[in-house]
Amino acid sequence: MTQTDQKTTHFGFQEVPEAEKAGRVQGVFGSVASKYDVMNDAMSMGIHRIWKDAMMDWLAPRPNTRLLDVAGGTGDISFRYLKRAGQAHATVCDLTEPMLVAGRQRAEAAAMADSLDWVVGDAMKLPFADNTFDVYTISFGIRNVTRPQEALNEAYRVLRPGGRLMVLEFSQIPNDLMQKVYDLYSFNIIPKMGQVIANDRDSYQYLVESIRKFPDQDTFLNMVKQAGFANAKYRNLTMGIACLHSGWKV
Ligand SMILES: C[S@@+](CC[C@H](N)C(=O)[O-])C[C@H]1O[C@@H](n2cnc3c(N)ncnc32)[C@H](O)[C@@H]1O
Repeated sequence: MTQTDQKTTHFGFQEVPEAEKAGRVQGVFGSVASKYDVMNDAMSMGIHRIWKDAMMDWLAPRPNTRLLDVAGGTGDISFRYLKRAGQAHATVCDLTEPMLVAGRQRAEAAAMADSLDWVVGDAMKLPFADNTFDVYTISFGIRNVTRPQEALNEAYRVLRPGGRLMVLEFSQIPNDLMQKVYDLYSFNIIPKMGQVIANDRDSYQYLVESIRKFPDQDTFLNMVKQAGFANAKYRNLTMGIACLHSGWKV
């Protein structure tokens, strides 16, 4: 048995061997893929759209750029990026093929398939050469990655000098009372919605638990800096329920 096999990590509130986490995460997203977009709107009451638009506002996509959208799932971020940039190219990379399949169907329906590639791959070991992309995004993905620092290091590697990182992720609400109200909603309502809409309570129980296990804004900012990114900053969204982190490869 190697050292990696013996190490453990969290999968929601469960402690699991590190080597098992990616397979479990794939199980969750493979199971929810066909209902993923509907559930996103239901769980967040549509607010995820506002957060993703805020991400685009800060990112300010430019024409003729190459985006790598890691943990890109059904392509929400890439579609927004391409619409804002005009002429650009997006590569959606994700561990879970059924999420990409659902995304590709959306791209075909929106006549955007020519501007997109869909690649199965792991954020911790990206199948791309150094210095390839102008922009790297990861939206509601990095908290599912077994070793998030390795994903950030990979982001730095595949970005070209002058390239930009932007992470959208759930975060921690700095106000205790608001955090309690939010916990009541997320732990009591979201798994029930998962049961009713996607017939999958366990996957949505994992999703809310994984939010609690993710580092707070400042801890994650330090991880972004540790990967080598300069001018690293964050902006809270909706009181810190979600957060954007930005950094530059100089
Ligand atoms: C909550 S979805 C986010 C999808 C999309 N980015 C969005 O914002 O709607 C999380 C995605 O992360 C993917 N994922 C989890 N771990 C990953 C990893 N290590 N490498 C690549 N993708 C991963 C899952 O397969 C899933 O599609």
